[in-house]
Amino acid sequence: MGKCYPTVSEEYQKQIQLCSRKLKGLIYEKQCAPLMLRLGWHSAGTYDVKTKTGGPFGTIKHKDELAHGANNGLDIAVRLLEPIKEQFPSISYADYYQLAGVIAVEVTGGPDVPFHPGREDKAQPPVEGRLPNATLGNDHLRTVFVEQMGLSDRDIVALSGGHTLGRCHKERSGFEGPWTTNPLVFDNSYFKELLSGEKEGLIQLPTDKALLSDPVFRPLVEKYAEDEEAFFADYADAHMKLSELGFAEA
Ligand code: HEM
Repeated sequence: MGKCYPTVSEEYQKQIQLCSRKLKGLIYEKQCAPLMLRLGWHSAGTYDVKTKTGGPFGTIKHKDELAHGANNGLDIAVRLLEPIKEQFPSISYADYYQLAGVIAVEVTGGPDVPFHPGREDKAQPPVEGRLPNATLGNDHLRTVFVEQMGLSDRDIVALSGGHTLGRCHKERSGFEGPWTTNPLVFDNSYFKELLSGEKEGLIQLPTDKALLSDPVFRPLVEKYAEDEEAFFADYADAHMKLSELGFAEA
């Protein structure tokens, strides 16, 4: 499907550049890259291709969407981002949250994810229940990522590599611990750990482990564990698609 990006003014582009710098400072100061990536993803991942509802349109700032069970803890991200947002009133929340996710990947050593501005804020939050449930398996991942969001099998594996950043918090999700020994660095260690089996102090969610038992997913896990450049290329492509669900459709 071709994209047809809206034209934004030079002034808006400039605001995006200045805002990106401020976001880098905030993410460094608060060490909050993982939370910012999770915010961008949970904002976009509610998109439903059939009804064209949900998606990266800023609705996650509203209390009712933050109250969805899957979003536990993301109120902190929204709050951390507010002081910078106030300095850039012309930027939409929709663009702002996706920019935060993209910058989080970049500043932790990950690939540059192309960012196209021009998303408009929507009023209507998605219904609850569209984000993946960590206790389920591959059929569920395909239902959410392929049927609902319109992404591919390859995108599922590449995007799962987002768990190279951050950790689970018992009080937010019921799970506890990081996936890797360097949770503030974006690299391919998620895939290496996944293949090397469970270890004291590190977590593997049921949905992470499920990738190992699928004939399409597993070879991709192996490829990304071996070849970080291949992971970065597919990740950047998948993250860009995620951040543009329902946006700029031709
Ligand atoms: C494949 C389905 C997925 C499931 C079931 C899932 C589930 C979870 C769960 C349960 C947590 C722990 C939340 C907490 O307790 O703080 C988490 C954290 C996280 N997820 Fe996912 N996730 C999925 C996909 C993704 C994707 C596609 C990305 C981004 C590309 C992502 C990025 C993150 C990050 C960065 C964190 C760490 C947040 C922090 O450290 O505060 N996840 N995920």
